[in-house]
Amino acid sequence: KIINVILSGGVGSRLWPLSRKSRPKQYIPIFDNQSLFQKTVFRNEGFCDQIMVVGNKDNYSLSNADLLSLGIQDYDEIIESCPRNTAAAIAFAAFSSEPDDILFVTPSDHLIENRDVYLNNVLKAIKLAKDGYLVTFGILPSRVETGYGYIEYQGEHVISFREKPDLEIASDFVKSGNFLWNSGMFCFKASAYLEELKLHAPQVFETSFNAFRKKVNNFLPEIETMEIPSISVDYAVMEKTRKIKVIPSSFEWSDMGSFESIYQYLKSKGHPTDENGNMGIGIDIHLEFVGLRDTIFVYTKDAFLILNKNESQKIKQVFEKLEKES
Ligand code: GDD
Ligand code: MG
Repeated sequence: KIINVILSGGVGSRLWPLSRKSRPKQYIPIFDNQSLFQKTVFRNEGFCDQIMVVGNKDNYSLSNADLLSLGIQDYDEIIESCPRNTAAAIAFAAFSSEPDDILFVTPSDHLIENRDVYLNNVLKAIKLAKDGYLVTFGILPSRVETGYGYIEYQGEHVISFREKPDLEIASDFVKSGNFLWNSGMFCFKASAYLEELKLHAPQVFETSFNAFRKKVNNFLPEIETMEIPSISVDYAVMEKTRKIKVIPSSFEWSDMGSFESIYQYLKSKGHPTDENGNMGIGIDIHLEFVGLRDTIFVYTKDAFLILNKNESQKIKQVFEKLEKES
C-alpha cells in the first residue's frame, strides 16, 4: 500500500499577516482559490492508496475542512499535542503503518507544477523504496540558499547529504555543480525508516514509540511527546543513513516559505505588478505605489504589511515580536 503522509506542523511565521497561528500558510486559499494543503492532497491522490495527515491540535480542524471540501472523508490522522519536528512526525506515521507500506512523505506547503514529470519521478522513487531505500527528490539549485538540504549525487547514488549549510559552504556546493537541493519529500518503506531511525537516532525512536503507544484515538499525549528530542528527519536520518538514494527531479518546485517566493509565483501567474516591481496581495481596491520599488503590500482584514520584497526573511522577527506581546 502506498500512503501519502502529509506533514502539516509549521506555523509559517515568515508569511504573517497572511499566515496566522489560527490559520497557517498551508491553509490559505490564495493559489487558484485552493490552499497548498489541498493542492498537495490533489497532486498525490491518483497514485496513493491512503492519506495520513500528521498535524497538531491547533490545525487538525483546518486539515479536516480542507479534505472535506475536496470530498475526501476517508483518511487517517495523527494529532500531535506539541510539535517535535519531522523525525518524530514521520515516525508516528511509520508506527501506525504496516512494515511494508510505502510512505510517500510530503510537506503541505510546497507548490509543484508539471505533474507528468512529477508522476514519473515519484514512480521511480516508489520502485527504489520497495527495494529498501530511503529516497529523496533532488532539485537543481537556482541560487545559493541556506534554508535547504543539499544532496551530493551521481545519478541516483548519493555521495553525501548536508542539511542547511552556511552561506560559504552552500555557495561552494552550488558552484561545484555536484549538488541538488533536497525537496523535502521522501519515499520509503515504513520499516526501512524505522530501522534507520533506530540506528541513527535511537532516542527519537524510543521516545516517539513511547508517545505513540499512549495515543488516545488520534491524539498523542503531551507529557510523553515532550520527551521526544526535537530534530528534523534531515539531521536525524538523512545525513547519516547509507540507504539514501535520490531521484534527480525536473518538475517545477517551490517552497512557499516567504513573500518573495509568493511574489515570484503570483507574478508568473499574471498577478499585476507595476513597472517598479511593486505588488499588492489580498486586495481588490485600487492601489498605487509612488517612489517605491520591489514593495509588497499585504492586505488582510485586521493587519497590513508593507515590505521590501528583498527583506522577506525578516518577517519572522515581526511574527515573533507579536507572539511575545500577545
Ligand atoms: N506534523 C508535524 N510536526 N509537521 C511538521 C513539524 C512537526 O513537528 N515540523 C515541521 N513540520 C512540517 C512542516 O509543516 C513542513 O510541511 C514540513 O514538515 C517540513 O518542515 P519545515 O520546517 O518547513 O522544514 P524546512 O523547510 O526547514 O526544511 C526541509 O524542507 C526543505 C525544502 O523545503 C528539509 O527537508 C530541507 O532539507 C529541505 O531542503
Ligand atoms: Mg519548509
